Amino acid sequence: MEKKILVAGGLGYIGSHTCVQLREAGYHPVIVDNLSNSEVSVLDGLEKIIGERLPFYEADCQDKEALIGICKKEPGIVGIINFAAYKAVGESVEKPLSYYRNNLNVLISLLEVAEECRMKAFVFSSSCTVYGEAEIQPVTEETPILPATSPYGNTKQIAEEIITDAIHAGMPFKAILLRYFNPIGAHPSAMIGELPRGVPQNLLPYVCQTAAGIRKELKIFGNDYDTPDGTCIRDYIDINDLANAHVKAIDRMLEVKEAPNVEAFNIGTGRGVSVLEIVKTFEKVNGLTLPYSFAPRREGDIEKIWADPKKALNVLGWKATRSLDDTLKSTWKWQMRLQEK
Ligand code: NAD
Ligand code: WQD
Repeated sequence: MEKKILVAGGLGYIGSHTCVQLREAGYHPVIVDNLSNSEVSVLDGLEKIIGERLPFYEADCQDKEALIGICKKEPGIVGIINFAAYKAVGESVEKPLSYYRNNLNVLISLLEVAEECRMKAFVFSSSCTVYGEAEIQPVTEETPILPATSPYGNTKQIAEEIITDAIHAGMPFKAILLRYFNPIGAHPSAMIGELPRGVPQNLLPYVCQTAAGIRKELKIFGNDYDTPDGTCIRDYIDINDLANAHVKAIDRMLEVKEAPNVEAFNIGTGRGVSVLEIVKTFEKVNGLTLPYSFAPRREGDIEKIWADPKKALNVLGWKATRSLDDTLKSTWKWQMRLQEK
């Protein structure tokens, strides 16, 4: 029988790229999304890449009955990947209840559905934000979790605890928590990519819109950090590499009986890159000049963080393979396609 995976939030940035990788690995994604931060047209992009129309259900993933109905219509769902969440850090400070309600209700409903529908595997989209401002870099999965600095970050910490408690209480499936670092880039075909709404808060969407003339200049938040060039350091991970980690996680839970019931993995490159390096590399690989200036530090920003991804390599057999040059080319190619739309 076909192995289907329920992809909650599957029309979003990471979910859509993961659907491509799942299908290429022989799984059959079943997408559920309420379109709160995505568009149905993503299905067209997916169809162009995969060569088939993926099943899509417009529903709120908080709605357990709707989800159970979908599972009945789609026999053979063996696992869930939970991408469905609100993700804007600043907005979460202004609307904490909306973030707690959506992100945690979705998680609880999906866990209950996984139990009731006898699934075997559950993947959760966590974030390196759980490590906060860690003292030692790179961070491993053993690096202490620090108190969250935003309601969004707190939803990730609470979600990890909810999943761990549920698994320890005997949920009949395995769970993997993937702690993403900073996902960037797009599918090389430029048929799918990130769809930022309003003024982008994240670096690469802002860089792209500046290069495209939509924004006047990029403000680099802080050049007086204790880093080699004074700007913040992050671990920027190619979206296609990140997507592939979900396939490895599902494979492990379905195939490796002795695997622990719940595990966390860092999904990053292991390399720290500064904001200025991103700007310079983006300019170089795309033959562009990017207007930018230095601005004061952004409140709440962490000076530096990057992953130790050895556990993902040793246990999942996963590692990042795409170069930053290629990733920044795909980012710009996608922006140019967005302009054509
Ligand atoms: P995204 O907003 O592009 O995708 C999330 C999708 O979930 C959207 O299509 C949205 O419409 C859908 N959704 C939200 N609430 C829903 C609900 N109640 N019911 C059904 N669908 C719902 O975000 P993304 O960047 O693809 O992120 C996916 C996941 O990864 C999120 O959980 C996010 O917190 C996490 N994450 C993202 C990043 C990042 O930088 N993008 C980093 C770390 C973790
Ligand atoms: C990267 C760097 C900025 C915009 C956030 C969330 C985190 C995670 C990913 C989900 C920083 C600098 C940015 C700009 C700039 N999401 N910057 N000018 O802050 O690492 O992480 O998104 O879990 O939880 O906090 O990503 O892309 O916003 O910023 O100088 O206009 O770029 O200061 O150093 P961040 P980002």
